[in-house]
Order: sequence, then C-alpha cells, then structure tokens
Amino acid sequence: MASSAKLPKRVSVYEVSPRDGLQNESAQVATHAKVRLIEALVDAGISRIEVGSFVAPKWVPQMVDADEVCRMIGRRPGVTYAGLCPNARGLDRALAAKVDEIAVFVSASETHNRKNVNKTIGQTLKAFEPVIGPAVDAGLKVRAYVSTMWGCPYEGDVDPKRGLELAQHLLGEGCYQVSLGDTIGVGTPTQTEKILDLFATEVPVEQIALHLHDTRGTALANVLVGLQAGITAFDASVAGLGGCPYAPGAAGNLATEDLVYTLDGMGIETGIDLEKLWQAGQVAEAIVGRELPGKVHRAGVRSLGK
Ligand code: HMG
Ligand code: MG
Repeated sequence: MASSAKLPKRVSVYEVSPRDGLQNESAQVATHAKVRLIEALVDAGISRIEVGSFVAPKWVPQMVDADEVCRMIGRRPGVTYAGLCPNARGLDRALAAKVDEIAVFVSASETHNRKNVNKTIGQTLKAFEPVIGPAVDAGLKVRAYVSTMWGCPYEGDVDPKRGLELAQHLLGEGCYQVSLGDTIGVGTPTQTEKILDLFATEVPVEQIALHLHDTRGTALANVLVGLQAGITAFDASVAGLGGCPYAPGAAGNLATEDLVYTLDGMGIETGIDLEKLWQAGQVAEAIVGRELPGKVHRAGVRSLGK
C-alpha cells in the first residue's frame, strides 16, 4: 500500500442517494420525504448532492417530482445542488428548478446506453450539444458520467479506451469532471488500477471522480486504489440506498457512511459529520420502509479514539 503521505488530505464526497438511490424504488416516495432526506444529508455536512433527475417520467417514474423537490428544499449556502439531465428538455427543467449543476450521462457500452436512453452512444453525444454548452453559458457547472466502465450487464467486458475517449470528448465540451461508473459493481482493484493508469497520462486527476456501485463488496477496495492514484472525488449513497428490490443482486452505490468512516480513520477530511450522516441513513431507511445494506449503517458508528 502507498504510504499515507501520498494519500490526499481531503476528499470531496458527491452524494447520489436522492437520485441514484431513490430512482430504483418501485413504490413512489413522497416528495416531502425526499426533501427531508436531502436536508438531513446537508445537515450532516454533505456539500455536493444530486437531488433528482430531469429525465422522462415514463422511463423513471420515481423522479417525476424532481422539479418540485428542487422548489421545496431549503438552499444552504456553500452547497451544490445537482440534477441528472439527459437532453435539452432536461436542461430547461434544470434551469427552471434553479439547480447549481447538471450531470449528463453516457455508457461506455452500446447496449447499456441504448437500454438506458434509447439512443446510440453517438446519438447521445449529439443530444448533449444543446445541453453542455448552453448550461455552461447559463452559469451551471456540468458533470458527466461514463457508465459501465468496469463491465456491462449486456456485453460483459468493456474496453476502457472507449470510456477514455468519451471522457475526453465530454471534458472538451465543457464538463468540469467525469465520474467513472462501475454501474453494476463488478470492479476489482487490479482492474481499477488498469483503468486509472490508462487515464493517468490523458486526463488530469482532479477531473476524475469514481462512482462505484457496491454490488459485490469491492467498492471500498477500489476507492483505496483511487486514493493511491490521487483521486479526490467519490460518489456515494447514504446507507447504500439503491438497487432494485425486484432484481436480485443489484445494489446501490458505495454507502456514504462506509466511505466517510474509512476516510475519517485514514485522517482524510471530508467535512462530513459521521454521526449526523448515520442519522440521515436512518431517515433514508424510514422513507423507503425497508432495511438498507450499508455496513456502518447496520453496525453503528464506533467513536473513534474516544
Ligand atoms: P425517448 O422515449 O427515446 O425520447 O426517451 P422521446 O424524446 O421520444 O421522449 C419520450 C417522452 O418523454 C415524450 O413525452 C417526451 O416529451 C418526454 P410524450 O410525448 O410521450 O408524452 N421527455 C421528457 N420528459 C421530461 N423530461 C425530459 C424528457 N425528455 C423526453 N428530459 C430519454 C429518451 C433520454 C428521455 C429517456 O430514455 C430517459 O429519460 N432515460 C433516462 C433513464 C435514466 O434516468 N436512467 C437512470 C439514470 S443513469 C444511471 O443510473 C447511471 C449513473 O448512476 C452512473 C452509473 O451508475 O454508472 C448515472
Ligand atoms: Mg449509478
């Protein structure tokens, strides 16, 4: 393992539970409950949060009230409120909802991309032309996801070079950061090292984030590889919220509490209060009405050094 001197001193956590977590819930979660979750997370010190998606409600019914959620949340200075956005219609909604940031998304594998947005990868990039530039001109920050970097549920192995080309294209269009997605949580540390080695000479490390679904319990191991490579931005979902109750084996992002617990213990700052974050995880569990899988969420917070 790299010496701790080489690890970053501070990490930025990008909370995705209100979007990536809740989008998979089949029973509609009340708008006020989503607002309660977002506010509990911000109370805990989360300062970058994806509050919902401006996608077609026919495709993701759970996100139908993203506009309303944005209207209802109390905005806290210093907090970036972001929304997922697939097309120009989504940008119009994002601007009306007054988010600070949007996130566009494309997959590194054709089949997943088509299933997700009903378009080829090429058509998806075309659909971003009236999104990324105009969003930046309107004063929004734009983030991009490149999904299925570690593997595709339909095509299996994915050539990371395809993901690199997409990342370079999206950064060239004006995105400030590309979040590399292990969408189905298949990645292992060796694979993560290979992907990050490929990116190392091509993309500044500050422009890369990792978005690791924890389906097979490898997300934290991959975070460590990321930290050693100088990555300082990680996506996470409180209590591990995410995954489809009707798709056995599917799981949410790395649990935010597990990430923050680990970083706290390594002396890496996040600005997040773990006890309060744990409380936000209780809110998440209450609003979805089922047990959530996050390890620290289940085990409780151990008082470090007390
Ligand atoms: P489509 O059906 O091909 O497009 O969907 P369309 O243009 O024909 O539109 C169909 C209907 O949707 C129309 O309404 C449009 O007006 C409406 P109708 O005339 O039938 O009543 N529509 C919209 N409504 C509201 N907001 C919009 C919007 N756009 C169209 N923005 C489309 C194409 C891209 C819209 C659709 O496929 C879609 O919304 N897909 C989103 C899927 C999604 O949200 N997936 C989950 C998020 S991605 C993810 O989880 C991965 C990530 O976490 C990273 C990782 O894990 O790796 C990010
Ligand atoms: Mg995801």
